[in-house]
Amino acid sequence: MAEMLKRGSPAGAGRGPGIPEDVPVLAVDGLVVEHRNRTTGEVFRAVDGVCLRIGAGESAAVVGESGSGKTTLAMAATGLGPRSGGEIELLGHSLDAIGRRRLRELRREVQIVFQDPHGSLDSRQSVRSGLRELRGLQRERTAWIDDAGLLERVRLSPDLLDRYPHQLSGGQAQRVCIARALLMRPRLIVADEPTSGLDVSVQADVLELLREVRESTGAAMLMISHDLAVVRAVCDTAHVMRHGRVVESGPCETVFTSPADDYTRELLAAMPGGRWRARR
Ligand SMILES: Nc1ncnc2c1ncn2[C@@H]1O[C@H](COP(=O)(O)OP(=O)(O)O)[C@@H](O)[C@H]1O
Ligand SMILES: [Mg+2]
Repeated sequence: MAEMLKRGSPAGAGRGPGIPEDVPVLAVDGLVVEHRNRTTGEVFRAVDGVCLRIGAGESAAVVGESGSGKTTLAMAATGLGPRSGGEIELLGHSLDAIGRRRLRELRREVQIVFQDPHGSLDSRQSVRSGLRELRGLQRERTAWIDDAGLLERVRLSPDLLDRYPHQLSGGQAQRVCIARALLMRPRLIVADEPTSGLDVSVQADVLELLREVRESTGAAMLMISHDLAVVRAVCDTAHVMRHGRVVESGPCETVFTSPADDYTRELLAAMPGGRWRARR
């Protein structure tokens, strides 16, 4: 089974009818998301004309302060959150040009790992029954690995299969969330501050796991973070976000070692993770 996951034969390869490998996994053009304040009626642009392109197997970071619009962007870009304007292509398909059924199929190619792992898991389900439910929804797609093998992939003991979320540590629960995402063999993994809710002692391990998952499956990744150490561990390219706009984009090394934008410089100085250091 490990063979399937080796580099060069991504788990996503060849799946999904009509999805060639060279098409960007995600292409966002002029994305706008507005929120209307119910009491004042005032309109607030949480995302203001963002363009973004993530190629197959690429790992992109969206970095910015809290409130800059990162989560809103990620949800809208993957068709899971509201959008007020702009175009989104997921695996070469415009979200405006496809029907619900196709959209449902495409969404399966995108899996999201959230900040709060306990909040993402159903508290009434053991790990095993949660996985069983996922498998029931997508039999063919999920048949590539058994539960014990899957947990092994995220370095958890199969003993945890019968535990409920409250019996898992934050790090274990996040590994379960990553396993659940992995099970679906996505073409894009969106990770929204995946380590911010975890004890510092396990953050590095979970990041290492995400990097490994990314390398072994060939899935593209959209990593959202306010923490440079996170970006450094996992991403190739970075998009710096401020007040709903992307103010600077480029390879991580360039953006973080010679930022062109003043705001990027300020952000770097203020960010956890401190100055950019090249990946080992
Ligand atoms: N449903 C909503 N209604 C109104 N304002 C919202 C809503 N969701 C987010 N916002 C606002 O949009 C801005 C961006 O939020 P968010 O995308 O969560 O930022 P980030 O993830 O970068 O911290 C924030 O100012 C937030 O208060
Ligand atoms: Mg957020």
